Amino acid sequence: MISVEHVSMILPAAGRSVTILEDITFTVPPKQMVAVVGPSGSGKSTLLGLMAGLDKPTSGSITLEGTDITSLSENRMARFRREKVGYVFQSFHLIPTLTALENVAVPLELSGERAAGKRAAELLAAVGLSDRRGHYPVQLSGGEQQRVAVARAFACRPPILLADEPTGNLDSATGAQVIELLLALHRDYGTTLVLVTHDTTLAASMQRVLSLRDGRVESDSSLSFCESTVESTGERLSSEWVIPSIPLHSDSPIEPNS
Ligand SMILES: Nc1ncnc2c1ncn2[C@@H]1O[C@H](COP(=O)(O)OP(=O)(O)O)[C@@H](O)[C@H]1O
Ligand SMILES: [Mg+2]
Repeated sequence: MISVEHVSMILPAAGRSVTILEDITFTVPPKQMVAVVGPSGSGKSTLLGLMAGLDKPTSGSITLEGTDITSLSENRMARFRREKVGYVFQSFHLIPTLTALENVAVPLELSGERAAGKRAAELLAAVGLSDRRGHYPVQLSGGEQQRVAVARAFACRPPILLADEPTGNLDSATGAQVIELLLALHRDYGTTLVLVTHDTTLAASMQRVLSLRDGRVESDSSLSFCESTVESTGERLSSEWVIPSIPLHSDSPIEPNS
């Protein structure tokens, strides 16, 4: 559950203050998949960063899983983020001096997981990269790096996964693999997914689309899938951009198209 309430972000720029986000309010129920869309500069990355506690808003509050993160100290925020929020960056942000396996193991080790290496190896296997575990980021393709980044973001099984244009630096086929991975996490673990994207097809395959413009919520639509579509296409996700089947959890509070 994510609750963003009256969040504004005002930053100094060129000797004056610029309003980047203005009075943003919305709630994401558990297990929902939300696309955040909007033109470049509309505040999408700023909003997602605030939701991950990477920065604090000028005013307003953000509550994740019942905790107001705007009041947490940096140390407590770091711990909270590790347990509750996975974050995937457009440009991967892997640690260049660590192997794929070591990158995935970092959050596990920090959270005191004793079998961090073993669990990291399982996660790499789950994203199809067992044979790349000893590779450094420069030795991996963009798609491989992003799959490592997704494995790392999900290592501690956070209930919330935030992704800022996770396919923005990937070709469409590779991007589709990464999206499939994120959707599988939602399907298998009920992970709440909020992702920024420019891809309208991808956005439409989310349950809800939140559209920003000039730092404000321009529209907030709830999308839903037809039951018969889910039945006819079966359980597996396809690797195409149009994701035909996403079995919805029966307790997902998803509103019908309005
Ligand atoms: N640290 C900062 N200081 C001043 N302005 C910023 C800062 N970060 C972002 N901005 C500005 O805030 C606006 C929104 O940026 P951003 O959230 O990155 O938008 P988006 O992700 O939608 O492209 C842009 O106009 C950007 O230039
Ligand atoms: Mg951005």
